Amino acid sequence: MNKLELYQNYKTIFETNDTPRMFFAPGRINLIGEHTDYNGGHVFPAAISFGTYALAHKRTDRKVRFYSLNMEESGIIECELDNLAYKESDDWANYPKGMMQYIAKAGYDISTGVDILFYGNIPNGAGLSSSASIEMVTGVVIEQLFQLKIDRVHMIQLGQKVENQYMGVNSGIMDQFAIGKGKKDHALLLNCQTLNYHYAPLDLQNYKIMIINTNKRRELASSKYNERREQCERALTDLQTSLSISSLGDLSKQEFEANKHLITNDIDRKRAKHAVYENDRTIQALVYLQAGDLSNFGKLMNQSHLSLQHDYEVTGEELDTIVETAWQQEGVLGARMTGAGFGGCAIAIVADNGVDRFKQVVTTTYQEKIGYQPSFYLATTDDGAKEITTEGVL
Ligand code: GLA
Repeated sequence: MNKLELYQNYKTIFETNDTPRMFFAPGRINLIGEHTDYNGGHVFPAAISFGTYALAHKRTDRKVRFYSLNMEESGIIECELDNLAYKESDDWANYPKGMMQYIAKAGYDISTGVDILFYGNIPNGAGLSSSASIEMVTGVVIEQLFQLKIDRVHMIQLGQKVENQYMGVNSGIMDQFAIGKGKKDHALLLNCQTLNYHYAPLDLQNYKIMIINTNKRRELASSKYNERREQCERALTDLQTSLSISSLGDLSKQEFEANKHLITNDIDRKRAKHAVYENDRTIQALVYLQAGDLSNFGKLMNQSHLSLQHDYEVTGEELDTIVETAWQQEGVLGARMTGAGFGGCAIAIVADNGVDRFKQVVTTTYQEKIGYQPSFYLATTDDGAKEITTEGVL
């Protein structure tokens, strides 16, 4: 869908002659540092050019209307600015509603109602953070329409709160951070405990990042996700009987090995091991990327996947088939699952001239083993959530 079509849709659907402003928030991939954000560790994501467009205009009354071109069957979802409470029947619109409510609760003055049209091109259910993308694009819409000057990190934290408290998903801060602060041609190393971050140029030489979608629906993903969090929290509590640490991210590998006996449950110990070793790999990955050492960077990605497969146990047959097939291909420097796991997407660093063959082999092997096909997208990095100029479109 191009920008002109988005404008036309806005006018037809909301039956108005107002010219809306246009905004965009990307999705994200995570290069490495998985399930470390809520453990006080590091993550290394990048914003991608698949994302969510929002067209918006202020109203003169206190009505709020939402429409998604991806959910046309839901029609216009309408509510009042003075009642933005969660309502199950509002379905997807709870994300923008929640974001507006948390911005208002934080003391910002949203003075009138608003009409917002959404259109997203992030593949459905792929684990590339479409929900955080909707939250952050809504944040920027409200900030810009009402000239609010919301500190970006604060907006990111509000987005995470919406996810945790309003939607009830206990996720970490990585997705909103990557989407709120991403930078084209860069990855972002974030310390999730201090929120200090560092942009690293993503110079891939003669390689591309390929995103491979398992096309598996991520059923039960959020209950398993919450279970992993609890296991890590229990492991931390056990370690705290002797150590003065505030998160697993405070531990080096050596400190973990010397103290792991404090963790009483075997499964919790494996989960904690992943969190500590993955954090170490993520910090190391920055060093390799900065040195242009893609080969060692790729090896860390492979180790990350093995740890998520065996210690954290969040991969599953679909992701393992893709990643293991990728490892066997010539010209592949590294491959791993990305995001929460339990389905969703994998990423692989593939030589430019090997892309077609890679797709062919992975498709054949996956089809044979899993019974349906994966999808492929070449990752292009993008900037964080912002207003986009539409000069010349109308
Ligand atoms: C999901 C969550 C993130 C993060 C990843 C796993 O994407 O939203 O906060 O925990 O899983 O790294």
